[in-house]
Amino acid sequence: MSANRDASKVLLGLEGVSKAFPGVRALEDVRLTLRAGEVTALIGENGAGKSTLVKILTGLCRPDAGRIMVEGREVKLEGVREAARHGIVAIHQETVMFDDLTVAENIFMGHMPRRRGGLVDWPQIKQRAASLLADVDADFSALAFVSTLSVAQKHLVEIARALSQEARIIIMDEPTAALSGREITDLYKIVARLKAQGRAILFISHKFDEIFAIADNWACLRDGVHVGEGRMDAVTQPDLVRLMVGRPVGQMFPQRQRQQGPVVLEVRELSHPTEFADISFTLREGEILGFYGLVGAGRSEVMQALFGLTATTAGSIRIGGKPVTIDSAGAAIRAGLGFVPEDRQHEGVILPLPIYQNVTLAGLQPHVRLGVLQRSSEVAASRAITSELDLRSAGQDQAAGQLSGGNQQKVVIAKWLATGPKILILDEPTKGIDIGAKAAVHEFISAGAARGMAVIMVSSEIPEIIGMADRIMVMRAGRIVAEFARGEATPEKLVAVASADVGVAA
Ligand SMILES: Nc1ncnc2c1ncn2[C@@H]1O[C@H](COP(=O)(O)OP(=O)(O)OP(=O)(O)O)[C@@H](O)[C@H]1O
Ligand SMILES: [Mg+2]
Repeated sequence: MSANRDASKVLLGLEGVSKAFPGVRALEDVRLTLRAGEVTALIGENGAGKSTLVKILTGLCRPDAGRIMVEGREVKLEGVREAARHGIVAIHQETVMFDDLTVAENIFMGHMPRRRGGLVDWPQIKQRAASLLADVDADFSALAFVSTLSVAQKHLVEIARALSQEARIIIMDEPTAALSGREITDLYKIVARLKAQGRAILFISHKFDEIFAIADNWACLRDGVHVGEGRMDAVTQPDLVRLMVGRPVGQMFPQRQRQQGPVVLEVRELSHPTEFADISFTLREGEILGFYGLVGAGRSEVMQALFGLTATTAGSIRIGGKPVTIDSAGAAIRAGLGFVPEDRQHEGVILPLPIYQNVTLAGLQPHVRLGVLQRSSEVAASRAITSELDLRSAGQDQAAGQLSGGNQQKVVIAKWLATGPKILILDEPTKGIDIGAKAAVHEFISAGAARGMAVIMVSSEIPEIIGMADRIMVMRAGRIVAEFARGEATPEKLVAVASADVGVAA
């Protein structure tokens, strides 16, 4: 099919779609149009209703009202398979995959090609999987187990899976949230290719630079309501932010006094069997130390080791000058550490528990009176901190699992900010959260540092790391390969030392 001829063809139309959850109006009278050969960015704050819309489009969730039209014909989407049959496939905010199965099996799960007689046609599966993987420029085999793949590679599997179902409407819910650098550019290339093939793409993202780089159109939700749509080339970023938030937002990093106290953490030659080696650095009170690197450079693994979640083979850690052994999260907390993990949906939140219990979980002591945990005290503390982070919820009793992706992230961040640790480690703290909440998180980190809290911040977002950090360590292939003082680091230098293309002695 030719992209030009199809350029104005409407593939998907949505009218008057509403969806309520107990206590929340997730979507109200929403409309949306997706055209062949165009990328439409769906934007909105955390909890605005973006993922709910995706769930409706993919048959995971039934709307209370409204019509969905595929190529002009009204359809009822009663399940994922039904949606796929109409050519609608999503790559979700959280990848859902079978880790113990191969790539090929995951691609064809639920729609395995069969031979006459009903037996699964393995040779065909392998062959078609290999060719789909080639279509997305994958650098791994169809026979690899999914458990061995990186997040970026898992995305490719999902895209290959969408292509295997001949998806004409492809939805990507924050696909680059866990990717960095080259992986992101690779994904953009694939999006461009899907677009050139005449598919319609709905792209959800909190990153404005990427929306401007790849989208043709935008549509904006605020509190579940459609507040605008149009062509990308007719708007500016401040216009979109105003529409999203309903007020202008200054996106500057907070100014603060950069006063540092004595060294509080000293890490020497920390090594792991496979993920990192010879990690040495110091951290002072009141300092924000940034860790930059590409995805897979080993930054998260180092942080997990510092927090006692991963065993190390060598090295030592001193806190306040004293050698410590941190072999569990409990030991880490006792030593004064706090840790906001990157994978907050799996490691950070207990989904069935209410918001307030999640927030107070890492520090219950202040809420105990005469041996009894005081709910009112927990709720008050949680309310104070979550409202500063602008958490959108139906109330403190709401289960964390019912919150939007970004709001779940805020719960984990709130949990560690609430404990007031001596040393706070944050892994990609603003990943997946909207622009207003981002500013609030930066404010919190700065305020904590100003009070003497020592902070380690892993971030793949260059403006964030340059804007926030006093010093930046760059990791590559499991080692620290460079260190920059504040003011020395530029985006170009960071990228150059972080990527394997340049010759830095490791
Ligand atoms: N199963 C559920 N039960 C109750 N409320 C829900 C459920 N799923 C979503 N919600 C609520 O619906 C609203 C919209 O959530 P949604 O996940 O669509 O937001 P989003 O725009 O994707 O946000 P984010 O940017 O944080 O991912 C939120 O207030 C959320 O708490
Ligand atoms: Mg979402």
